[in-house]
Amino acid sequence: MHSHPEAADTLIVGAQLYDGTGAPPVERDVAVRDGRIVAIGNLSNWLAEEVIEAEGRALAPGFIDVHTHDDTHVIRSPQMLPKITQGVTTVIVGNCGISASPVALKGDPPDPMNLLGERDAFQYPTFAEYVKAVNAARPAVNVGALIGHTALRSNQMDRLDRAATPQEIDGMRTQLEEALANGALGLSSGLAYGSAFAAPTEEVMALAEPLAAAGALYTTHMRTEFDAILDAMDEAYRVGRHAHVPVVISHLKCAGPSNWGRSEEVLKSLEGARRMQPIGCDCYPYNRSSSTLDLKQVTGDIDITITWSEPHPEMAGKLVKEIAAEWGVTQQEAGKRLQPAGAVYHNMSEEDVRRILSHPATMVGSDGLPNDPLPHPRLWGAFPRVLGHYARDAALLPLEEAVRKMTSLSARRFGLAQRGEVHIGYHADLVLFSPDKVLDAATFEKPQQAAHGIDAVWVNGVLSYRDGEVTGERAGHFVARGAASKGDAHGAF
Ligand code: ZN
Ligand code: CU
Repeated sequence: MHSHPEAADTLIVGAQLYDGTGAPPVERDVAVRDGRIVAIGNLSNWLAEEVIEAEGRALAPGFIDVHTHDDTHVIRSPQMLPKITQGVTTVIVGNCGISASPVALKGDPPDPMNLLGERDAFQYPTFAEYVKAVNAARPAVNVGALIGHTALRSNQMDRLDRAATPQEIDGMRTQLEEALANGALGLSSGLAYGSAFAAPTEEVMALAEPLAAAGALYTTHMRTEFDAILDAMDEAYRVGRHAHVPVVISHLKCAGPSNWGRSEEVLKSLEGARRMQPIGCDCYPYNRSSSTLDLKQVTGDIDITITWSEPHPEMAGKLVKEIAAEWGVTQQEAGKRLQPAGAVYHNMSEEDVRRILSHPATMVGSDGLPNDPLPHPRLWGAFPRVLGHYARDAALLPLEEAVRKMTSLSARRFGLAQRGEVHIGYHADLVLFSPDKVLDAATFEKPQQAAHGIDAVWVNGVLSYRDGEVTGERAGHFVARGAASKGDAHGAF
């Protein structure tokens, strides 16, 4: 049998292929042409413009960061260093009820929309305008987007400390429908925050109604992650059942010392609900959380590190209790004087983090905060930390399962068509990494550091990062909800 040489743009030879499905690795060559994976197998009869010798290193689908606040970052810093250096090839923006679009601010962004930037960062009154801006910026990674409930509230309401009226809900629905028609992946909420806490469940249920027809989903930073977490989970299930949509619980955690050790109970609740309806969750691999400074959490029972403060930027990196001692005031008073501010909360138990992270329903999402001058290290480290620290060093889960939680599970749940697997015909989002070297380098003290062991990253077939350097090519673009997402998403939950 003779064989004509086949031609590819890129040939990656001799890789241990982790295909994203959770299957154990197998030795394969992979060929890429015109942005797609065109062949997988023994491709010794192929020719290519560029041949990469994998030499037994791991080749996986590019990682999908399902939980980001990169809405404005993908436009203002399109090189996306914190993500491309981790092997992330797609980010999902618009989480926790806050999105950069559709937004028309009347003043300064309400908390926590200020996590996305200051007033001038919000320039997209329609979702279509946001999509255009993303594509014009040519980000290094692909961008999928959720629409934030709080963002919609800020458009339609004069004040956020009350329930929306039926007219205001109608206004929000119209804006959500425009976004869904332009490819948004779904609706997110951030019910724990002051700007959405007054929204009753019925408001969210009504707003979620258009999602099902679009094949979209509902994600939620729940009403609480503290003692009443089971009630908050029930609320999330109820919205999903009412609107007939899949639900993703964001950054699932047992927050606060009185709540530590309850992850078993929490996961039991999740499993029970999963027998009735499609539900999953994401989490980041750290036992500290981060957001804006919430005075309700300044109780003195946990350490809180300040990461930024508008009136007192010099206090970044210090504990609230140290600042309070320095000023000779209570912690609550110190917290007040620091506002507006950002914080890292030392509020989880490691045992709970491990139990939630290793659960089969859990995806990996960084929840990184790119506008924070002293960001929680999850921004630069989440994915390599799962691979290196948790999968390899702590043996918490097999490497192929860790990869599945960052790739196929994420793509199916969010309706990202033809991504998340190394599969013929799929988009060539790929990462080549060294399983023995991969590790996060970002720490709480020095958080802005590229991970180790991420050797090459392709986005839509274009080599974008290699041996610690960006190539200068930025090949990402906006990704709309996939046509096949509805069936896939249900199948994957
Ligand atoms: Zn959140
Ligand atoms: Cu978040």
